[in-house]
Amino acid sequence: MCGIVGYIGKRDIAPLLLEGLQRLEYRGYDSAGIALQPRPGTAGGLRTAKAKGRVRDLRDRLPKRFTGTAGIAHTRWATHGAPSDANAHPHLDASGKVAVVHNGIIDNAADLRAKLAADGVELVSDTDTEVLAHLVGRAQAETLEEKVRHALGGIEGTYGVAVLHADFPDRIVVARNGSPVVLGLGEKEMFVASDVAALVTHTRQVITLGDGEMATLKADEYRTYTTEGSRTSAAPTVVEWEAESYDRGGHETYMHKEIHEQPDAVDRVLRGRLDERFSTVHLGGLNLDAREARGVRRVKILGCGSAYHTGLIGAHLIEELARVPADAEPASEFRYRNPVVDPDTLYLAVSQSGETYDTLAAVQELKRKGARVLGVVNVVGSAIARETDGGMYVHAGPEVSVVSTKCFTNTAVAFALLALHLGRIRDLSVADGRRILAGLRRLPGQIAEVLRDEERIAALAGRYAHARSMMFVGRVRGFPVAREASLKLKEVSYVHAEAYPASELKHGPLALIDPDVPTVAVVPDDDLLEKNRATLEEIKARGGRILAVAHQEQPRADDTIVVPRNEPELDPVLMGIPLQLLAYHTALALGRDIDKPRNLAKSVTVE
Ligand code: F6R
Repeated sequence: MCGIVGYIGKRDIAPLLLEGLQRLEYRGYDSAGIALQPRPGTAGGLRTAKAKGRVRDLRDRLPKRFTGTAGIAHTRWATHGAPSDANAHPHLDASGKVAVVHNGIIDNAADLRAKLAADGVELVSDTDTEVLAHLVGRAQAETLEEKVRHALGGIEGTYGVAVLHADFPDRIVVARNGSPVVLGLGEKEMFVASDVAALVTHTRQVITLGDGEMATLKADEYRTYTTEGSRTSAAPTVVEWEAESYDRGGHETYMHKEIHEQPDAVDRVLRGRLDERFSTVHLGGLNLDAREARGVRRVKILGCGSAYHTGLIGAHLIEELARVPADAEPASEFRYRNPVVDPDTLYLAVSQSGETYDTLAAVQELKRKGARVLGVVNVVGSAIARETDGGMYVHAGPEVSVVSTKCFTNTAVAFALLALHLGRIRDLSVADGRRILAGLRRLPGQIAEVLRDEERIAALAGRYAHARSMMFVGRVRGFPVAREASLKLKEVSYVHAEAYPASELKHGPLALIDPDVPTVAVVPDDDLLEKNRATLEEIKARGGRILAVAHQEQPRADDTIVVPRNEPELDPVLMGIPLQLLAYHTALALGRDIDKPRNLAKSVTVE
């Protein structure tokens, strides 16, 4: 949510920052801007350019000979103040000497604005960030570091910030509290960004700042320290993901690319983890020995959006394979209801980005109450990965499209691994362990098989795209698949969709069914097949159209997408795939901006 990129060094800075912004645009895309420290001898103070709209709008608007020795840039997802040129970052202080880009939210911005206004400061934007620029500009301190520290001391809220000051042209000062800040280390040049995506084409050596940490970047050195001023010594790490994995790789959209990466992504989450000898899996990072695993009485999974939906799949898998009571809850709700924290419950926080504020806050609340919390996370070294006591990486690779696809699938597979691991420590038989392992190994090939059906699914999407609304139904294992498919459709195509357990239809939502409201039904060949078929009859009897996702043609459905059979416990993984394609092709048929759906942004780092 919002992207920051900064650079200090000898390169032509504006194109470099624009390219960085382009790579971060998936985090926010309603306005963008750049501030530069001019080259020595150039008249005037900091130079800025800002534009409402996309990064390409900013590119079109850059002044001639817009260059300098250091720069900070931002792509915005509006929180305080509508998208506009004035509200775009960077924000300047009254003297024009200080420029600030900021991700996060300043909770006491209204009070600070009032105080500044009472002191005669003219505020030119509606944002919370502008306040910070004025506070830095007004701070009575010798060094830029002290000025920034002083300003941050006066604000409440979350931030990832980068600051330029015309009187300190040799440096950029950055700070983090709740919003990611990553330093990129180069040869006589330094970078900063809110996400490694903006850095990987320039350097793979990075340092992720922790909360309460600041850094000073000069062209040939960097220094990290706490907001109180004591030095810290974060060691650089090497980014594992290849620079090419951040490109579209010949696909029209990232979403399409990421859907098609799933056979390889699933292969990666399995690699090195399957143990044929004991019919189980190795999950080295869990930090949970067999005795502790046996002591778990309950599992509670927390996440938001698609991550929460994978949690629903995970809870079913854990109950089925390990016979431990398990459930999932939106992290955003959990943290506000003063949850009872039980010492024998294992808590799992699920997140692609590892930065989602609501999930992170739930983890912090749980830890404060003494709970054991493990992470199921994609981004290595992210805040949730660092805050949890251990966990599993889902190894999906970078997910750039705002709409989650491959990470959803990989997380569901990661849950199958965890369920098998817990099951084999408890009462799951060797034979069942072997059966699930064999099923897991079949998944990459079967996903590829489903993807080969894309042309037909695209044709079906064209047929259903103009529906007034869509109903998604499934039973037990199929219900999380229906929920995720319904979310996928609405966020990327803007077609209204509802998801219900198939069993609940006759308790109310059946009233909505008519020829303009088709139903997508998840109908695996499991022990609930007959019940599901009865639901299809009910829908038909009300004149509803039906698209089934099933293991065999469904006679009562108007159309069926047939997916390969695996083990019943793994059905949700395979049945979700064609529905990602359905959402994608519906959005394409309706001419939507697929990788940047309206009103949304990747990584929701605010409340
Ligand atoms: C849906 C989607 C969102 C995210 C949610 C959590 O396609 O992408 O619902 O799943 O915002 O994000 P992470 O997984 O990064 O915590």
